[in-house]
Amino acid sequence: MDWFQAHSRALPWRRTPTLYGTWVSEIMLQQTTVAAVIPYWEKFMARFPNVQTLAAAPESEILSLWSGLGYYRRAKNLHRAARMVVDQGRGGLPTCRKEWQALPGVGTYASGAIASIGLGEVVPAVDANARRVLSRWFYDDPIAAGNLRPSELEELASRMVLPHQPGQWNEAVMELGATLCQAASVQCSQCPVLDQCKAGLAAVALEIPPPKKPKPTLAIAVATLVVRCEDKILLLPPGSRETVDLAGKWELGRADISGLNHGFWTLPQTPWYLATEKVDKVLDDPTFVRLWLRGRLNLSSAQIRACLMRKTSFGHSITHHRLGMRAWEIQIPEHYCNVKLAQGIPGHFLIPSTDTPVSKLVTKSLERFFEGIV
Ligand code: ADE
Repeated sequence: MDWFQAHSRALPWRRTPTLYGTWVSEIMLQQTTVAAVIPYWEKFMARFPNVQTLAAAPESEILSLWSGLGYYRRAKNLHRAARMVVDQGRGGLPTCRKEWQALPGVGTYASGAIASIGLGEVVPAVDANARRVLSRWFYDDPIAAGNLRPSELEELASRMVLPHQPGQWNEAVMELGATLCQAASVQCSQCPVLDQCKAGLAAVALEIPPPKKPKPTLAIAVATLVVRCEDKILLLPPGSRETVDLAGKWELGRADISGLNHGFWTLPQTPWYLATEKVDKVLDDPTFVRLWLRGRLNLSSAQIRACLMRKTSFGHSITHHRLGMRAWEIQIPEHYCNVKLAQGIPGHFLIPSTDTPVSKLVTKSLERFFEGIV
């Protein structure tokens, strides 16, 4: 505890902690680094300073603020939970771990963290950092440490929580994991618990827990169309399935990407093809773009010839997929701007704004062509 007092990182949600701010930070920190979370937490708290403002906002605004942080289900669950809290009308946030756990998006770890840090309840909070610290603290045998079940670690952690400062205790254990006791680098000589740490004393900390086999990464090839008319862009509303189909029947790397786009506006896009030389060649050639302009935007050959077209390529990672993105920009001349979209195209020519939240992938595609537009 002395070590934590002296060395804890100065994080914005630790400045003047509130139960609501702790909730938001713990949800954002799931699967995301502290450095990535800080600016998002600040923006989020400035716009939604309490559960009432959060519940009253439209989902699109929450997704806009979350765009770039990933794992968007967290944002939707946070919003749903805020609405449940306000609708239940008891005038405040849940007052114990069990009530927190009944809210969407709040699982074993988050409920433990929120209840101990925000409410002083004597419960553990075992995230990946705490799991690693506790495994090393009590085990010097990689096989035994690798076989530990989550319930066993939860039980171990329960017995250790300091009854008079449960939140600080949990944060201190997690902080050790985030700083001195990282997965691939340790500073055992500076560790406040080295004299009790089995793995540290046996100098085997880096072997514990044993590494899990990483899931293989799939190489994916995707093309997206940035169709511009003056300063407007063709955007498709959330849930629309306008895909750009290619002539070939290429193998898909992931059958359905609609879940990822749920709640976001998007651009016309090909399915996620497994990257092969053939697919790459097709996506890098403007022929499929011209076919799409004719078939889906109803442009004539002369109109298509008058469009300015250019391509940019970049990489983007989503969980276990490495996307080779091609963004094709198509500038439709001003005097064609009021061409009617072909039947069945659900899109609109719009200037992107907070009313039209887009994913990081779309933002990246747009940024390639318009600096500072989003
Ligand atoms: N990781 C997630 N939440 C944390 C916290 N409150 N303190 C330290 N590390 C954390």
